[in-house]
Amino acid sequence: MVKELKINFYAIPNYEMLDDTEKKLFDAAKKIREKAYAQYSHFTVGCALLLESGEIITGSNQENAAYPSGLCAERTTIFWTAANFPGEKIKKLFVIGAPETALSSTPIPPCGACRQSILEYEANQKEGIEIYFASLDGEIFKTNSVRDLLPFSFDASFL
Ligand code: THU
Repeated sequence: MVKELKINFYAIPNYEMLDDTEKKLFDAAKKIREKAYAQYSHFTVGCALLLESGEIITGSNQENAAYPSGLCAERTTIFWTAANFPGEKIKKLFVIGAPETALSSTPIPPCGACRQSILEYEANQKEGIEIYFASLDGEIFKTNSVRDLLPFSFDASFL
């Protein structure tokens, strides 16, 4: 029997439709993207997350000559956050990625490994982390939880 699994996401037409907090996160992700260390792929990614305290934490992708040793912007950011603010709730996570010289782009979603890493902290805090992934100059997609990006997710409740 075929069953259907439904996920929800929002398509925000452009930057102007974001509220002030969201604009701040967009700007922060875009700015930190300029500092990405992506000399192998030349695909630069910026991430900005909002803590419950209102603090914004940012990070970028960090590549390595031994390619698999590099890390995505989302995990760089969320691991640093968890290391420095253990137990503090994360409300929103914004990601912007594109080839480094691109002037326009489509929304780049977090990769599978990043989704799983984000889920670890979302499951602990028992509250959804709103995930935004934005194009440089147009549409922004949003989910209310990383679980919408990771249906049939595996977490500690199975152990
Ligand atoms: N990358 C991210 O930082 N986040 C993603 O969600 C997708 C991919 C990085 C990893 C690598 O440095 C480059 O983009 C190309 O894959």
